[in-house]
Amino acid sequence: MPDTITSEQPTAVDTLLIERPIPPCNIVIFGATGDLTHRKLIPALFSLDAQGLLPDHLKITGFARREFSDHSFRDELKASVQEYAPDLWKEAEASWIKFAKRVVFHRSDFDNAQGFTWLKERLDRFDQTEGTLGNRLYYLATPPSTYTTVVQQLGKAGLVRGGTDKDSDGFTRIIVEKPFGSDLASARALNAELKQVFDEEQIYRIDHYLGKETVQNIFVFRFANLLFEPLWNCKYVDNVQVTVAETVGVEQRAGYFDHAGELRDMVQSHALQMLALIAMEPPNTLSASDIRDEKAKVLRAITPVVGSGCNDCVVRGQYGAGQLGGKDVPSYRDEPNVPADSVTDSFVALKLEIKNWRWAGVPFYIRAGKRMPERVTEVNIIFKDIPQVLLATETDDTAEPNVITIRVQPNEGISMRLGAKPPGQKTVVRAVDMNFTYGTSFGQRIHDAYERLIMDALLGDAALFTRDDEVEAEWGLITPILEHWAANPAPELPNYPAGTWGPDAADKMVTDSGRKWWNR
Ligand SMILES: NC(=O)c1ccc[n+]([C@@H]2O[C@H](COP(=O)([O-])OP(=O)(O)OC[C@H]3O[C@@H](n4cnc5c(N)ncnc54)[C@H](OP(=O)(O)O)[C@@H]3O)[C@@H](O)[C@H]2O)c1
Repeated sequence: MPDTITSEQPTAVDTLLIERPIPPCNIVIFGATGDLTHRKLIPALFSLDAQGLLPDHLKITGFARREFSDHSFRDELKASVQEYAPDLWKEAEASWIKFAKRVVFHRSDFDNAQGFTWLKERLDRFDQTEGTLGNRLYYLATPPSTYTTVVQQLGKAGLVRGGTDKDSDGFTRIIVEKPFGSDLASARALNAELKQVFDEEQIYRIDHYLGKETVQNIFVFRFANLLFEPLWNCKYVDNVQVTVAETVGVEQRAGYFDHAGELRDMVQSHALQMLALIAMEPPNTLSASDIRDEKAKVLRAITPVVGSGCNDCVVRGQYGAGQLGGKDVPSYRDEPNVPADSVTDSFVALKLEIKNWRWAGVPFYIRAGKRMPERVTEVNIIFKDIPQVLLATETDDTAEPNVITIRVQPNEGISMRLGAKPPGQKTVVRAVDMNFTYGTSFGQRIHDAYERLIMDALLGDAALFTRDDEVEAEWGLITPILEHWAANPAPELPNYPAGTWGPDAADKMVTDSGRKWWNR
């Protein structure tokens, strides 16, 4: 059903609304020849520039080992924008020459201290010649195993000014990519290593899900509408479901994924951050610290699932061969570079409990999986049943509960399932959906999450980045499950055919209490 607010077609360079201009800055991307830089970071920066949002005095230095001149590096980036952001390229091609002039390549190995000394000389020179005012934004788009080396080299080379944005010599900030650690101990160790060189206020831990409009809209939807907040608690909500489903398998990422698994890759940050936005209390203000205080508080209120508790509240799965879109697809273990005896989880379902006044007794279910029948990321808030005394349904079943669905991808938007009367003499109830879709409601294209997040980091707004205590609270929930799995091998794997919604045990976990997964 289309929504009612529509306007003209969006364009690729519609302007993001910002209240303050982005300050001059030297951005340094570590890992500038890598996949993330090409597919996401450079298209995002180019788009910001094409919208006129980057200041004149902003330079971008790409740091990596491979051999490039400034010129050949720019050519390579141009080809990437053409390939990965063709709509943007079509509309903004004329802005490329100006953007390309901002970019230079700095070749060095992270182990080479001299490379960082030269980097400092280069950036200091830009401060003089390009007016970048001593401001630095570093982006760690590198393998996690190199984070500590880069950070230490930055510290040793004098590339990190202490203090925060109040520093009159300019700010220094660092964006750290995910994964941030692989368990609680490693996340704590990484936090400690970063803080030997940077203050917490200078560290921007990125989870690109938080840059997605719909995820941010969870916050606005909850706190800008009087309608929902009174119902947003255990008195009216029956259960909450977070689904992160992909149709793809492990593809070419087995080298990383087979060590990580779905619980680490999708639940630790993406799913738990969405859950925190759904369940948090209203913050006192919109400041980064107030928002993150509330998110951390609710994450800490989740009861960890430990030991044999995992048998009832956690289901792990791995796909076998199956069918998707009418095509045969191989099992996880038959994917390229996956060991034949791998027990890595490509699916996980969890039942969590938030021990606080608002949510006591409401199950929060999370499921994340690969080779699911549909690609969908959404949150469903399922309300309690109405008293079934007054109205019949068309099928004589009980009327469906009200459900609010927050769709993060695809078709970003929000829908509400309501009971309505179909035309005719009989007074019966049929479920209908009221839809709001981002694609049509605002007449603007949805900006890529990285655009928003890079802009926020340049502006010094850390609200959409994860703080140290949040990340540790997340790993505090994930680690006992990983430990239980390590101690209890999974002979049943693979346990779901590709193209299905996961193992039967995941259904049973929900149906045992008379509920069901909310599949459209
Ligand atoms: N790709 C994605 O879509 C994606 C999504 C979410 C998160 N991430 C995260 O983003 C980070 C980067 O991922 P990626 O996929 O872009 O990795 P990638 O394609 O493997 O790129 C790694 C980059 O790091 C550089 N590098 C590695 N070791 C180096 C060293 N010792 N000295 C100098 N440069 C070195 C490489 O330079 P050379 O090529 O010159 O060796 C390359 O530019 C990872 O933490 C990943 O988890 C990526």
